[in-house]
Amino acid sequence: MTRWPAAAEHFLAMTGAQAPIVQAPMAGSGGVAMAIAAMRAGAVGSLPAAMLSPDQLHAQIGEVRVAATGPLNVNFFCHTLPDPPDDTAWRALLAPFYASEGVEPGPPAPLRRPFDDALCAVIEEQRPQIVSFHFGLPEKALLDRVRAAGALVFVSATTSEEAHWLAGQGCDAIILQGAEAGGHSGWFLGARHKPTPLGALLADRPDVPVIAAGGIVDGDDVAQALRAGASAVQIGTAYLATPESFAIPAFRALLGTAAASDAAFTNLFTGREARGIRNRLIRDLGPLRVEAPPFPYASDALAPLRAAAEADGRTDYTSLWVGTGAARVRPQNAEQFTRNLAQDARTLLEASHG
Ligand SMILES: Cc1cc2nc3c(=O)[nH]c(=O)nc-3n(C[C@H](O)[C@H](O)[C@H](O)COP(=O)(O)O)c2cc1C
Repeated sequence: MTRWPAAAEHFLAMTGAQAPIVQAPMAGSGGVAMAIAAMRAGAVGSLPAAMLSPDQLHAQIGEVRVAATGPLNVNFFCHTLPDPPDDTAWRALLAPFYASEGVEPGPPAPLRRPFDDALCAVIEEQRPQIVSFHFGLPEKALLDRVRAAGALVFVSATTSEEAHWLAGQGCDAIILQGAEAGGHSGWFLGARHKPTPLGALLADRPDVPVIAAGGIVDGDDVAQALRAGASAVQIGTAYLATPESFAIPAFRALLGTAAASDAAFTNLFTGREARGIRNRLIRDLGPLRVEAPPFPYASDALAPLRAAAEADGRTDYTSLWVGTGAARVRPQNAEQFTRNLAQDARTLLEASHG
């Protein structure tokens, strides 16, 4: 049987996966069904927990466990949650949009939660194979508990500085999140967001397993990342086009079209930089505004606008997170997509090794 490149084989041995593919956690865009599909195809399945209560997370891990075996990754955000800010300037900026949509401010929307004691207790009880973190690491006491529960620890890095720092913290694998990646940039070191191309992150990678993320949608992309030294790939955007994703129809209609390439890093939707397709809000306000309240509070005031537009089939205020591969994705079910991806990548790697 043909083997994967040595670094990928090491990843498979470490995780128990059959393909060096991680289906990316996508809070609000994927969940139980997507993780099950990816795991059935031999990849690492991921459950995003940033918008789940401990009880919801407990139930979702249980649902995955009865339907699929194989490695499960549970993903958390590690931001610090500030007190609710004064968002007067932000609401003033949004007032014309409220007027044009004919909506009123609504009740506070559910916030993205940082990893905490209660969520950690779920990990200790459910013992997933992998726990991954975005926006840095949690405090040491929590991290020690995750490790004591037997989980491998994967963390996103967006710069070489972050990758080398995380390697020094003993992470089992580092997700190199290139500037090409959809969704929130996981940056956590330094005063400013510095999007760095995936190729540059791979070229300066630390000496621990690295997982390439950003713009990877087909077998050729996977093969290239593995040839460049990645142990595995993490893929988000391509899974948005699967029936297992929660993307609304108007968002799906953009995927696979040239319009999906018109994207920017924006802080308008949550208060932190994330890569998404330009829509009315980004075009009218510009992608980065100082008035946007700190993460994760910016999403609050947008909720009524988003609901009104979506009810009308519009994506004017919806966060349309995508990576640079969004124009190349095709609708197919997540299990078949994952199998094809692994097969195509392996065929290409075999061919290149003669
Ligand atoms: C819609 C969407 C939501 C995302 N949500 C999360 C998340 O909850 N946690 C996380 O660690 N990464 C999240 N990401 C980032 C992915 O983990 C990954 O870095 C990215 O999808 C890779 O780039 P690609 O989208 O080009 O495949 C998200 C990405 C997308 C597209």
